[in-house]
Amino acid sequence: MPNTTEASSDTPTLRYRPSQRILHWTMAIVIISALGLGLYCSYLVPGSALRRGLLDVHKSLGMTALALIAIRLPLRFSFGEPAYRQPLDALNHYAARGVHILLYGLMILMPLAGYTTSAAGGHDLPWFGLFQWPNLLPLDKPLERMAAEIHEYGAYCLYAIVSLHVVAALWHHLFRKDEVLRRML
Ligand code: HEM
Ligand code: HEM
Repeated sequence: MPNTTEASSDTPTLRYRPSQRILHWTMAIVIISALGLGLYCSYLVPGSALRRGLLDVHKSLGMTALALIAIRLPLRFSFGEPAYRQPLDALNHYAARGVHILLYGLMILMPLAGYTTSAAGGHDLPWFGLFQWPNLLPLDKPLERMAAEIHEYGAYCLYAIVSLHVVAALWHHLFRKDEVLRRML
């Protein structure tokens, strides 16, 4: 990913490109909704009409995330990130970088594991009732079970890392009163 260059301290806060900001916030809403719905579904009776209906919405949100990450990553590689007016200290810089890389990894892994669970299990892959995504996998129950486990443990990681990310963003904004949140607004 292109390097951050240091901006002078009398320049205004540099923000991510509008396309990057729109994608960040759209994906944040989509992914947090998918996490919440997935968690709720895991408490519902397997095979019940409510669970099936909500899982269809969950899958539609998850496939939306997969389509959006395919647009977002090339933009990230070509635009990079904006320079900081006041560069973060090394610890904060590397912690943020590490968390962002993990978030990108999970944004790819989670939809792919979800897709594999559904497709290898021979289930429908709807998109908000408008169309069906193609099922590219043969029926394979062991693969379905393995993908479901990866999906479940990935979800635990995502809960933890998204929580850390949101708390860090609020901490920067409310307590350190720096430019970190404004770069994404
Ligand atoms: C960013 C995207 C996604 C997130 C954050 C996410 C999150 C979750 C969570 C938290 C659960 C409940 C925990 C579990 O039982 O695994 C779950 C379950 C599930 N998700 Fe996803 N998911 C995503 C994408 C997808 C996609 C794209 C599909 C399929 C097309 C999918 C299919 C499923 C299925 C079938 C279950 C139930 C698994 C089971 O009961 O064993 N998910 N998801
Ligand atoms: C209320 C929720 C959220 C807030 C307040 C928030 C805030 C922020 C802020 C302020 C940045 C810029 C950090 C910087 O410039 O160093 C950022 C970047 C980022 N956020 Fe979030 N975020 C939220 C939700 C999410 C979610 C749910 C995800 C994905 C699962 C996510 C993924 C990312 C990634 C990957 C970056 C790095 C962007 C890049 O450099 O390409 N965020 N977020």
